[in-house]
Amino acid sequence: MPMPEAPTDFVDGVRQMASSGSAGANSGISTHMYVANQSMHKRAMCCTDSELLFVPQQGKLRCKTELGILTVAPGEVMLIPAGVVFSIELMEGPSRGYLCENFGAHFRLPELGPIGSNGLANSRDFLTPVAAFDASDEPYEIIRKFDGQLWQGKMNHTPFNVVAWHGNLAPCKYDTDKFMTIGSISHDHPDPSIFTVLTSPSDSPGVANCDFAIFPSRWMVAENTFRPPWFHRNVMSEFMGLVKGQHDAKPMSFLPGGVSLHNRMVPHGPDTNAFMAASQADLAPQKLSNTLAFMFESRSMLKPTDHAMRYPWRDAHYDACWQDLPKLFPD
Ligand SMILES: [Fe+2]
Repeated sequence: MPMPEAPTDFVDGVRQMASSGSAGANSGISTHMYVANQSMHKRAMCCTDSELLFVPQQGKLRCKTELGILTVAPGEVMLIPAGVVFSIELMEGPSRGYLCENFGAHFRLPELGPIGSNGLANSRDFLTPVAAFDASDEPYEIIRKFDGQLWQGKMNHTPFNVVAWHGNLAPCKYDTDKFMTIGSISHDHPDPSIFTVLTSPSDSPGVANCDFAIFPSRWMVAENTFRPPWFHRNVMSEFMGLVKGQHDAKPMSFLPGGVSLHNRMVPHGPDTNAFMAASQADLAPQKLSNTLAFMFESRSMLKPTDHAMRYPWRDAHYDACWQDLPKLFPD
C-alpha cells in the first residue's frame, strides 16, 4: 500500500485484507494493513471484537493505552487486548504495518513439546507498560469496533486516566530479535510451526485458530537439504508479510510491505529463481541476515476483501512465478 497523500491517521488508514469467522462466533481472524502519516489527535480506539496484534513494517509507533505507553518499532510486535482503549502516535514519520484481529482464544506461547522449558519466544521478553495517565479535560473522540462495525462517540475528558492497574491481560510488546530460532542441524526441515511466536489454539489439536510465526535472520546449516521452504499444500491458510530483507522462497518478487495469501490446500513454494539458485547452491552453512518475514496462519479459509481484490497494485499474475520451473525428471 502506498503512503497516502491526504492526512491519514491509524484509524483512517486501516484496510481489511482477508478474514474468516467473526467476533460473535469467537473464531477466526481478520488481517489488515495500515498506513498513516499523522498521529491520532484527541482520538482513541477500542476494539471490543478482538485482541489486536500489530506488526509494524515502517515507522516507529508510540501507543498510548489505558494501562500505559508502549513504543514499538519495525522488528517488534505489539498485542493490545480486546476492550483496551489506545491511541497511535507516529514517532518517525509515515508508518506502515500489518494487523491481525484474533477472534479466537487469546494468543499465548505455544507448547514447547520435546524442546522443553526454553526456546522460541520466552515469556520474560514480553514487556508490559507501567501505568501512565494524564488529567486532560479536552474532549476525545472514541472509535469503538463492535461486531464488525465502527461506532463513534465523544468523551469530555481523556480516556487515559488510569493511575494504577494490576492483572494479567495487558498490552505487551515483543522484540523478534529475542526469538530463539530452532532448526535442523543434521538434515531436512522441521515443520515451520517451529517458528511460532504466539498461538491462538482451536478446539482441534495441531490446527490453530491462528499461529503468528516469524522467519527472522538465521543460519541454515542442514546438509543434503534443499534450503528454501519446500513445495507444499496444507490445511492452514497462510497470510504472509515481509518487514525487511528478502524471503528465501521469493527473493526478488516479494517485497517489504507486501502481502501474500496462500489459502487452504493451495499449492505453493519457491519461485523459479529461488528453486534454480537453491538447486545449484553449495550446501555450506549459510546465514540469512537482516530479514524478517512473518505469517498469520489459520485453520480457517481466509476470504480476501473486495478492497484487496480491487487494489490496483494486486499482482494479477502471481502464478507466473512457477510457470518456468523446469521439468527435471527423465523422459
Ligand atoms: Fe506455505
